[in-house]
Amino acid sequence: MTISKPDWVTEGIDLNRPNPARIYDYLLGGHHNFAADRAVADRLAETRPHVKIATVCCRAFVRRAVNVITAEGVEQFLDIGSGLPTVGNVHDLVHARRPQARVVYVDVDPVVIAHSSQMLDDEPYVTIIEADVRDPASILEHRETRDLLDFSQPVGLMMTSLLHFIVDDDLAYRSVEILIDALPTGSYVAVSHAWLSAGSRESFAEMTESYKPAASSRPRPRASIARFFDGLELLEPGLVAPQFWRPEEPDDPFLDDPDAIRVLAGVGKKP
Ligand SMILES: C[S@@+](CC[C@H](N)C(=O)[O-])C[C@H]1O[C@@H](n2cnc3c(N)ncnc32)[C@H](O)[C@@H]1O
Repeated sequence: MTISKPDWVTEGIDLNRPNPARIYDYLLGGHHNFAADRAVADRLAETRPHVKIATVCCRAFVRRAVNVITAEGVEQFLDIGSGLPTVGNVHDLVHARRPQARVVYVDVDPVVIAHSSQMLDDEPYVTIIEADVRDPASILEHRETRDLLDFSQPVGLMMTSLLHFIVDDDLAYRSVEILIDALPTGSYVAVSHAWLSAGSRESFAEMTESYKPAASSRPRPRASIARFFDGLELLEPGLVAPQFWRPEEPDDPFLDDPDAIRVLAGVGKKP
């Protein structure tokens, strides 16, 4: 089948191959996705029918975490695995309170890079770089990171819905450790991660199978997710499902259903 390519799709991208950023975009109700991405997302929905609203809840955690970190006075963010632009991009949230704040987005996906670059054309304090979280030096030493971020001042490091894509434990923990080591005291780290609990083992086996055409993924048990926060002080309420991380409204989705979202989320502060 011939598919006409929109201008945010760069040469060499295979639109018939599903991709995590575009699957996530579809689950959030966005329009930067193709039939192959929607097919994977629809298969996920067969296993977990409320996967779309659960994804919105995960994104709401990003909003609340950024707002809390910004309210603490942080004026620079490093958002790794930033994904396709959506409602409530990190720089939009931060700039609402601190218009001169700087944001460096990082992603491995060339479609994310192309689309985000277009969006950021007129943003002097925001950039996106193509890099892999498994190679943290390539992020920390990147010229644009160095130009925009001052590592002598607190940084908000965002790694939301990212680390379950790093299936190799050694690589995942080592990469996060190097990134956190580079941050000064008073920095914050936000992580959300697919959570393998006793009750979710079976549905995750089906979900990771459905997801395989796009990427390998590895939900982890609570203790393994908590390890990403080693050396940090977890902010209240700790490591919880995203809907319970400082909910804003009494009718936020799933507040009455702790098992609805198999994800754990938290924010740590570097002492
Ligand atoms: C599910 S989206 C999350 C988007 C956003 N962080 C959020 O929480 O809403 C995951 C993103 O991580 C990116 N990603 C996956 N593996 C990566 C890696 N090794 N290094 C950097 N980014 C990666 C994907 O391309 C995708 O854009």
